[in-house]
Amino acid sequence: MRQRTPAYIFIPLTMFAIILAFTMVTPVETVAEPGFKGMVNNLITHLGAVVKEGIVWAVVAIALVMLLIINALNKVVETQKFKKLSAEEQAEYLAESKIGYFTRLFSSASKKQSAEEEEAIIIDHGFDGIKELDNALPQWWLSLFYFGIVFCITYMLAYTFTDFADSDVEYVEEMAILDERDAKWAEANDITIEGAVNKSNDPAIVEEGKKIFTQNCTQCHLDAGKGGIGPNLTDDSWINHENEDLFLNIYAIVYDGAPHNPQMRAFGQRKELSGLAIEKVASYVYHINQVEKTLTEADGAAAPQGDVVEAWKQK
Ligand code: HEC
Repeated sequence: MRQRTPAYIFIPLTMFAIILAFTMVTPVETVAEPGFKGMVNNLITHLGAVVKEGIVWAVVAIALVMLLIINALNKVVETQKFKKLSAEEQAEYLAESKIGYFTRLFSSASKKQSAEEEEAIIIDHGFDGIKELDNALPQWWLSLFYFGIVFCITYMLAYTFTDFADSDVEYVEEMAILDERDAKWAEANDITIEGAVNKSNDPAIVEEGKKIFTQNCTQCHLDAGKGGIGPNLTDDSWINHENEDLFLNIYAIVYDGAPHNPQMRAFGQRKELSGLAIEKVASYVYHINQVEKTLTEADGAAAPQGDVVEAWKQK
């Protein structure tokens, strides 16, 4: 007679499986991260959301009562079967039940039947002399199998009738969360012209500004701002010179765009660049205009456009 899986093993396992199943149908407001760490974080967030649901505890409580009843019934069946065993078998069964569950589980992996035992369970057909034993399926294997069935049904129901794993809904939800995060980030990183500071003295900022310039501006102003579709940014001539301060003039044009030429678009207003990024790129433009060598047509740069602003001339 086989030993039963003890209640302290199968009850917690079943409870855990129930809670896991609930993680599939409980909506959670997070964006899944990739990778192993993301997987663990995801599970923790989902479990956190699940344990807050009253219905989960109700189901777990009902399941617990049912499992305890099943356990009691099994015990009765076990006692009945035990009575029918011969004295020898009873002694063997009792001796075996003294061994801990995990030790038994572990040794069962390597345990082999005796020749007589095999004789009793051999199946009466063969192929090429190969015979089969009618071994009982291991309990852990069966449990996994049943769990797979329950998981599959729950998944299919959840997929069909709830928002769970609906990629369209997930996409919209994740985008909403990302937009909110972006908006928060922009709020924290955005500065208006009043807050903008000329940081062209800081080589690290100028370097970062250069990167932003390369990504967003060189297609029109070309390398080092020597000018192409957009004007030469290294010379003393300016089409736009509304602001008295050169740095703020550059900042304002990049943030709001050039007032009379839509080609120079409003990077700040259109949220293509945050206020802080514009501060950096404006510091870079200030730097190439005021510190680096002025590039002229002789250097392959664009001819001056607009008016020479005396106050902004390179010293
Ligand atoms: C699609 C092309 C294009 C892109 C991209 C572009 N610009 Fe411009 N930019 C222009 C044009 C055209 C003008 C001239 C506007 C005018 O005529 O008023 C200009 C003007 C300017 C001016 C004022 C120059 C002056 O003489 O008044 C500055 C400063 C400037 N751009 C900086 C930038 C920065 C910094 C970026 C990147 C964040 C950038 N631009 C991206 C086309 C562009």
